[in-house]
Amino acid sequence: MSRPLTAVLCGAGNRGLDGYGWCASQRRDLLEIVAVAEPIPSRRALALQRHAIDPAMAFQDWAELAKAEKLAEVAIVATPDRDHVEPALSLLARGYHVLLEKPMALSLADCWRLVEAAESSGRFLVVGHVLRYSPYFRAMKAFLQSGKLGEVMTVRHLEPVNFWRFCHSFVRGNWSVAGLSAPFIMAKSCHDFDLLYYLLEKRCLRVSSFGSLKHFRAENRPSQAASRCCHCPLAESECPFSATRYYGDLLRAGEHGWPVNVVISDFTEQALAEALADGPYGRCVYDCPNDVVDHQVAILEFEEGVTATFTATAFTDHRVRETEIHGSLGTLKGDGRFLEFSDFRSRQVERWEVPTEGRHLGGDWAMLESLQRAIRTGDASLLDTGPRDSLVSHAMALAVEESRLRASVVEVQDAQEGL
Ligand SMILES: NC(=O)c1ccc[n+]([C@@H]2O[C@H](COP(=O)([O-])OP(=O)(O)OC[C@H]3O[C@@H](n4cnc5c(N)ncnc54)[C@H](O)[C@@H]3O)[C@@H](O)[C@H]2O)c1
Repeated sequence: MSRPLTAVLCGAGNRGLDGYGWCASQRRDLLEIVAVAEPIPSRRALALQRHAIDPAMAFQDWAELAKAEKLAEVAIVATPDRDHVEPALSLLARGYHVLLEKPMALSLADCWRLVEAAESSGRFLVVGHVLRYSPYFRAMKAFLQSGKLGEVMTVRHLEPVNFWRFCHSFVRGNWSVAGLSAPFIMAKSCHDFDLLYYLLEKRCLRVSSFGSLKHFRAENRPSQAASRCCHCPLAESECPFSATRYYGDLLRAGEHGWPVNVVISDFTEQALAEALADGPYGRCVYDCPNDVVDHQVAILEFEEGVTATFTATAFTDHRVRETEIHGSLGTLKGDGRFLEFSDFRSRQVERWEVPTEGRHLGGDWAMLESLQRAIRTGDASLLDTGPRDSLVSHAMALAVEESRLRASVVEVQDAQEGL
């Protein structure tokens, strides 16, 4: 059995405790969480209990942890979107390798601060772009590299958020107000821009984007609707976004993971009823303070005339990102599970499954394994991505959002003099 990476966990929320914490509990050869920094006492206590952490290794927040001596090899930063840059900088300075959740930062200047700090520290800074590590996207990239598609011309990529996921996170939840978290296109789609960059191996030069918050607005609220689903006559049958129906069905089906565990920690009907009567997740979707877009499209031009279109939308059923890549010799389609190659020369269609296991199409496992190998050997090339690569996707997201807001074509600013 290999020696696990030791880690301090900053932010024991959904991603920190239920994501990385779960990985640590499943694979003791891979990751061991030895300290936690979390301001919410119940979450801190849960982390201590689940990972048998010494209570002396519990901290109120990342700043207190960063003042202590170095306690592990890696610092996992899974704090809210607006609290990524300062902990990552402080923990790099303390000598940790940092696994930083996306978005790495919300401005280009802060992305560059992180790149510079990581490169001068001699430590690894890995941004949680897990999808590029997944066997599925790795298989897609290997196919592109095989040359069978010929010269890649265009890409059509869809991020089908799913109407329920969208309501949970982007109407009622933590990512619903851009000023408190991040613009939707950064929060959700920096993964997609990272994938396009990874697959095409080309810089994106300029973008154009349209989108708005069109549906989840007060003026679309039916006249009979109540401000909470638990009092609403439409909640049982008519409203697709009913919180009582959605979370209730999941709980009755025995689901205790995401998103139920974001709403309640005591998995009973009564706890759910109370949470939906008082908490944010029981609000009518037309009566929330949300301001992020519910659909957005982007057109992207890459080096050498390669183009891509990208759609991110709330209004889909439950499925995985879909990608279609058009080359001079054929077309490759992927739905998150199967890849399908249509060969222009033979006129044959080949379809095969790429098995994946675990979250993010297996990307969580593969990213942690790569980080472990990179740290054990000191070989950065074992990581699929570094902070400079991560910066590119963020520069793309920032340009796309600027284009939407300004209604004009925007050039992607991902280069900095001297760096
Ligand atoms: N890579 C991915 O695919 C992926 C998936 C999910 C979430 N995320 C990202 O992970 C981050 C966390 O998301 P989440 O869903 O776990 O949110 P969350 O709200 O469930 O968890 C964040 C935790 O950080 C804690 N926190 C707040 N301030 C802190 C501080 N000063 N020091 C230490 N902890 C602090 C909060 O109390 C909370 O427990 C977000 O940036 C999110 O975008 C990434």
